[in-house]
Amino acid sequence: MNTYNQLINKQISLSVIGLGYVGLPIALSFAKKIKVIGFDIKKDRIELMQRAIDPSGELEKEEFQNCDILFTYNEKDLSAAGVHIIAVPTPIDTHLLPDLTLLLNATQTVGKVLKKGDIVIYESTVYPGCTEEDCVPLLEKTSGLKFNKDFFVGFSPERINPGDKEHTLATVKKIVSASTEQSLEEIAKIYQIVAKAGTFKTSSIKVAEASKIIENTQRDVNIALMNELSMIFNKMSINTFEVLEAAATKWNFLNFKPGLVGGHCIGVDPYYLTFKAKEYRHYPQIIESGRSINDSMGFYIAKMVVKKIISLGETIKDAKVLVMGATFKENVKDIRNTKVVDIVHELQNYGVKVNISDPYADKEEFENEYHLPLTDRLSNDYLAVIVAVNHQQYATLDESYFQSITKEKAVLFDVKGTYRNKIHQLNYMSL
Ligand SMILES: NC(=O)c1ccc[n+]([C@@H]2O[C@H](COP(=O)([O-])OP(=O)(O)OC[C@H]3O[C@@H](n4cnc5c(N)ncnc54)[C@H](O)[C@@H]3O)[C@@H](O)[C@H]2O)c1
Repeated sequence: MNTYNQLINKQISLSVIGLGYVGLPIALSFAKKIKVIGFDIKKDRIELMQRAIDPSGELEKEEFQNCDILFTYNEKDLSAAGVHIIAVPTPIDTHLLPDLTLLLNATQTVGKVLKKGDIVIYESTVYPGCTEEDCVPLLEKTSGLKFNKDFFVGFSPERINPGDKEHTLATVKKIVSASTEQSLEEIAKIYQIVAKAGTFKTSSIKVAEASKIIENTQRDVNIALMNELSMIFNKMSINTFEVLEAAATKWNFLNFKPGLVGGHCIGVDPYYLTFKAKEYRHYPQIIESGRSINDSMGFYIAKMVVKKIISLGETIKDAKVLVMGATFKENVKDIRNTKVVDIVHELQNYGVKVNISDPYADKEEFENEYHLPLTDRLSNDYLAVIVAVNHQQYATLDESYFQSITKEKAVLFDVKGTYRNKIHQLNYMSL
């Protein structure tokens, strides 16, 4: 097997299937060194990338320069590749169960062009066992080839963090795994072309799959604990962020904060693990409790605001509330699975009129996805403002700004504790 040499000598190409937050940076990094085919099913996204525009809004035009890459939505182009990296979304369905449709579709696409000696590497986050139990049989079926004789499979979880310019593909160690020892050596060498921090080989594909899923499950459970503490401390009129600041002076106190857990990773991946655990008759309690707490936070915040408005003697029906921040996390335009909409829906259930603003989110995309408008035109008579996302543009806002858009004695709900000790006139609340 000399796939690595063939790639380096540009005799074969490497393909990346699914050019989103994960796939595009990988494709462009490889394309600076070897021949790459970037494939996506969305023609409009491919056309943007052909013009050096990242549809996800993460990468600058310069990152497309000096790249040997063909952006295509034509499956036939993939046959020139000897290594395929699959990086399509792995969401959950409305019943909170893994939805493998896109992963299996992409697998079928690759299966159709698979040749003897090819390597298929999965980067999409999945439960332990998914690559070998769900994907490999489909590769065999669509290609007519034999696993570990004609073609080989690997799994290399992705650790990038959108909006984070420090922890990138180049700077973070890349976990690699494969179906045979020989293919593992090849895959490790291939990733070392771009992963400057090196690779970490696991003994099996399942270990690599499990390692990724627990990274996000661990974060989810820890944030859930902070959210539960916040509910307790709110009842005791203790500021949670102040407690955390004090506790963090101990060397081994873990630095987690309460907040909304949305997006396509932390709020989704634990469900892949709980799903698979149940196949083995294990009913996860800590993981599911954490999910339940984190999924309830938007509703909790809305209820806290409503109660406060009532306690101030104001009428809830037709009260105007501004929600600042609509994306699932700070400083990105990604609105997938944003929990801000839970706040909005719950407020609307009480008859509150809600305005939502965000400096990053695309208005049309947000409206299409959630049937809620975003606005730039703020009013000056809000009864409450909820700063839901910690965008950098909000960091410098002060009390006089919030006073300029609110009624006297309005409520400021500061989800992330950004304005702690800085608000003296308005009714300040935080998690
Ligand atoms: N975004 C992150 O920060 C992150 C981090 C680590 C892991 N992951 C995991 O990586 C995977 C990809 O996530 P993402 O955020 O890049 O998704 P994304 O939604 O940004 O992009 C996915 C791309 O795949 C394309 N696509 C969908 N089905 C396809 C198919 N059958 N063939 C070809 N292209 C197809 C879509 O058009 C889209 O362009 C997921 O499993 C996710 O859990 C994401």
